[in-house]
Amino acid sequence: MPPVHSSPDATSTARSIPPDAPTFPFELVRSGLEQVDLAIRAQARAFDPAVEGYVTYVCQASGKRIRPALALLAGGATGGTHEGHTRLSVILEMIHIASLVHDDIMDGADVRRSMPTASAKWGSSLAVLLGDSLFAYALEQATEFDDMAVCRIISRASRDVCSGEILQTQRRFDLNLSVPDYLRIIEMKTAALFAAAAELGARLNGANEATQAALRSYGLRLGTVYQIYDDCLDLVGDETTAGKTLRTDLIKGKLTLPVLYLLMNATEPQKTKLNRMLLKGEPMDTSILAGIADYEGAVEQAIRQAQSMLQGAVDDLTILPPSPHRSALEQITSFLHHLLDNCRVPV
Ligand code: IPE
Ligand code: IPE
Ligand code: MG
Ligand code: MG
Repeated sequence: MPPVHSSPDATSTARSIPPDAPTFPFELVRSGLEQVDLAIRAQARAFDPAVEGYVTYVCQASGKRIRPALALLAGGATGGTHEGHTRLSVILEMIHIASLVHDDIMDGADVRRSMPTASAKWGSSLAVLLGDSLFAYALEQATEFDDMAVCRIISRASRDVCSGEILQTQRRFDLNLSVPDYLRIIEMKTAALFAAAAELGARLNGANEATQAALRSYGLRLGTVYQIYDDCLDLVGDETTAGKTLRTDLIKGKLTLPVLYLLMNATEPQKTKLNRMLLKGEPMDTSILAGIADYEGAVEQAIRQAQSMLQGAVDDLTILPPSPHRSALEQITSFLHHLLDNCRVPV
């Protein structure tokens, strides 16, 4: 008999990100983020009672709220935030959550935000549909903006997230994947939503086209750097601190920047060995990789490349008048630099 899925208890208590997880410099928008948090948790009530508990479950675990923070800070840096910024933030976070629900199915991940993933709890069929419902709901909310371009930009970013995940899936175990191919994938799957957050935070204040474009560019760079950081973390990070399942990228055939550099810098005999190991898609202790080629050097090279992209993001912000919010956007780049510095191979 197939398993019966009863709707989970919608009243379970909220969890927060792991206590020793790094804290992003979002103090300036702390109260705005609290409002966003409350609004996200309230969204579940809009769903059918049979579905509400699942939505509550995935919305109750607080992530870092990076995308809402970008929308609020971009708003603050271009005239101030209003109710539209809260709605935008909720929509972006719901799209992000939807993408995580789907991503965890594909990655076979059991833990997300320090809790069992939707797919681990209820299986992938239910999780696919839950992710779909969240995407659909977020896009429905996006139609509430009077400015049609807002809905268009949000919808395009959602499509990019999904297309990026498709491209990544197509190129699994593809040893011909180039660094530009990789960068295109992560720009779509991760940076597109960062870009929409920063751009729309400004657009909701009627900021001029140049300002919107600069913030979009800032978001693209930041999102790209963030995914490179996350890809290094998958190799060298600690699961409890990260609050999610790590070390799935190699098993699933995701050739991320540090692995691409490992292959690029290897000698022919080393490459032959590495290729054989990578194509197996088995759980792998990274010390094995380190025993074959310069693993530490490859992670270092990926970190350096990510750090070198951050100056461009700071330059994008020069279009904004000086303000505490602009400084906070700059601080995020310094914080990412610092996170990358601490993302080294444990000795
Ligand atoms: C996880 O995103 C997926 C990536 C883009 C790497 P976050 O690191 O923003 O996840 P939460 O929202 O804090 O859980
Ligand atoms: C980011 O990639 C996933 C999305 C953009 C949905 P990852 O697969 O690396 O994200 P994590 O590590 O599971 O959070
Ligand atoms: Mg994943
Ligand atoms: Mg990852």
